[in-house]
Amino acid sequence: MTLLRDHDLARAFDHASRTYDRLTALNPGYRTDLLRSARRLRLPDDGAGLHVLDLGCGTGASTRALLRAAPRARITAVDASGGMLRQALAEPWPDRVRFLHLSAEELPTAGEGPFDAVFAAYLFRNVTDPDAVLHSVRTLLKPGGRLAVHEYSLGGSPAQRALWTAVCQGFVIPAGTLTGDRALYRHLWHSVLDFDAAPDFTGRLTRAGFADARALPLAGWQTGITHTFVARNGPVPAAAGPARQSFAGTAAAPVPTVEAGR
Ligand SMILES: C[S@@+](CC[C@H](N)C(=O)[O-])C[C@H]1O[C@@H](n2cnc3c(N)ncnc32)[C@H](O)[C@@H]1O
Repeated sequence: MTLLRDHDLARAFDHASRTYDRLTALNPGYRTDLLRSARRLRLPDDGAGLHVLDLGCGTGASTRALLRAAPRARITAVDASGGMLRQALAEPWPDRVRFLHLSAEELPTAGEGPFDAVFAAYLFRNVTDPDAVLHSVRTLLKPGGRLAVHEYSLGGSPAQRALWTAVCQGFVIPAGTLTGDRALYRHLWHSVLDFDAAPDFTGRLTRAGFADARALPLAGWQTGITHTFVARNGPVPAAAGPARQSFAGTAAAPVPTVEAGR
């Protein structure tokens, strides 16, 4: 199957945005696992004085986890889907949280950062060029800044692939078909099968120049299927080149490029 990418993926998330939170609420541990991963950033002093990036924030579930893990941090939350951002903005947020309608590929040239930490939940298997986005993350992170990637990445055993396929075919895709988002949830199924196994993504982080990259397990049915990858920025790389894709204006209805938190 051809995976959804770039504008097609943003449009699919735009459409799915109205039911996304209801579907993820049916996934046991979705929010507690996000909180566990956000806490694995180990931000000191509740994040006081720190600026944290939530890359691929969606409807704000990962942003909410960051806010709980680091209640005094300033958070910039970024997503390529205007529809997902509109759902996030329907909720009240403290002033220190703001949302930007930008793709991960556009961010390095948007004048944002530097950040003390970056959190990316369920983003990397969706991007066209994970290595390029990791390079961008390094240019946005301060030296020594922390990265936590929360991602479906199978442990590599046939049993884990079979469990993932059973969950998708038995529940995720039928539920997504009912909401009119079959293509997106088939993309979810295949994007996980195609993505790095946990040791491979750890290696990818190391090759990108991150230090101390490790994959940490999560509890429940997602053990061996979802991991938190933690690492810190190594020596600063050269500045990123110009953004390769523009997603501005792809939302079904306009969303402000920059929206202050409420
Ligand atoms: C599965 S959702 C996860 C949202 C949120 N992080 C969470 O944990 O609930 C993935 C999000 O990544 C966004 N996304 C995918 N590719 C992106 C890209 N290249 N740049 C920015 N956001 C992207 C999608 O629009 C979507 O909102």
